[in-house]
Amino acid sequence: MAADLSKVVGHQLEDKPVSWNKRDLLIYAVGVGAKNDDYPFIYELDPKFAAIPTYPVVLPFKLTDTDVNLFVERMKGPKIPGMPPSNPNKTVHATQSIEILKPIPTVSGEGWKWKSRYTGVAENKSGIILTAENTLVSPSGEVYAKLFSSSFNLGAKATGEKFSKQIAGPPQGKPIPKDRKADWVLKDQTTPEQAVAFRLSGDYNALHIDPKIGKAAGFGGVILHGLSTYGFAARAVLKSVGGNAPDSLKFFGVRFTAPVKPGDALETSIWEVGKGPKGTVEVAFETKNLTTGKAVLGGGIAYIVKPSSAKL
Ligand SMILES: *[C@@H]1O[C@H](CO)[C@@H](O)[C@H](O)[C@H]1NC(C)=O
Ligand SMILES: *[C@@H]1O[C@H](CO)[C@@H](O)[C@H](O)[C@H]1NC(C)=O
Ligand SMILES: *[C@@H]1O[C@H](CO)[C@@H](O)[C@H](O)[C@H]1NC(C)=O
Repeated sequence: MAADLSKVVGHQLEDKPVSWNKRDLLIYAVGVGAKNDDYPFIYELDPKFAAIPTYPVVLPFKLTDTDVNLFVERMKGPKIPGMPPSNPNKTVHATQSIEILKPIPTVSGEGWKWKSRYTGVAENKSGIILTAENTLVSPSGEVYAKLFSSSFNLGAKATGEKFSKQIAGPPQGKPIPKDRKADWVLKDQTTPEQAVAFRLSGDYNALHIDPKIGKAAGFGGVILHGLSTYGFAARAVLKSVGGNAPDSLKFFGVRFTAPVKPGDALETSIWEVGKGPKGTVEVAFETKNLTTGKAVLGGGIAYIVKPSSAKL
């Protein structure tokens, strides 16, 4: 079948059932480095117990499983019409955003769905970048979260010509101000067991546990799940700007710019850059490997409600 990237955009995938419970929320919190005082995310009897708002990002890996899954099976999808073959070993997560429309319940029960369609595709000399829009939909049809995720298929080729088509995507953030220091800077420490903990949320890719595979892929050993680093940055933004209030975060998006190794120290720098929609502020942020100074997350944007005491 001939590759035709114009056919990719708009293609809808079959809906997938998803579910979670309180244990899943606690396990996710540990996977993204929540600390022993990170109430209300670590203790199910805390009066404000809630999901870390970025939790839905792991649902396409977990689906309804309560046990481990086989990553290679989980990632097998039907062929996307018009998309040329790509090497899964050379596919990297490029961007991820989540818009939280409503806080999710702590126990899902049955009937929740994960809906996906492709909303963007672009080809250049290095490969093909594919963007999917995903929504988390309740049994009564209400959308709780809308996510955009893009993956870069290195070396994939449709025509070799430049091509780009997009029908929907996340909002573009303002750049990081060059003329002033960050308003908040948070240091954090991943542990050598960070990937061991994060995989329990559903992404059992061997790249994150078996050093042989990480070496073969050119990383010199295991690397941390990009979505774990994503959660570290979300916690940093929630804690510093949102007073750790679970429902303060309304939008959170990043570009993955470099791998993180379990055990690396991270530093997230956050700038308030203006007003966001619906009573939020917009912040721009980046996360660095503290020792190398290399950016691991770039293009960070969040819309978040500041605690009312800070509004004065
Ligand atoms: C991807 O990597 C796995 C594990 O190293 C290997 O078995 C497989 O053949 C690779 N796939 C491709 C398409 O190169
Ligand atoms: C191709 O696009 C990707 C993703 O946007 C980008 O990182 C890369 O630098 C581009 N490569 C070229 C050769 O333009
Ligand atoms: C982060 O910095 C540490 C200390 O220099 C280094 O050992 C580690 O390899 C870096 N991580 C990555 C993924 O480059």
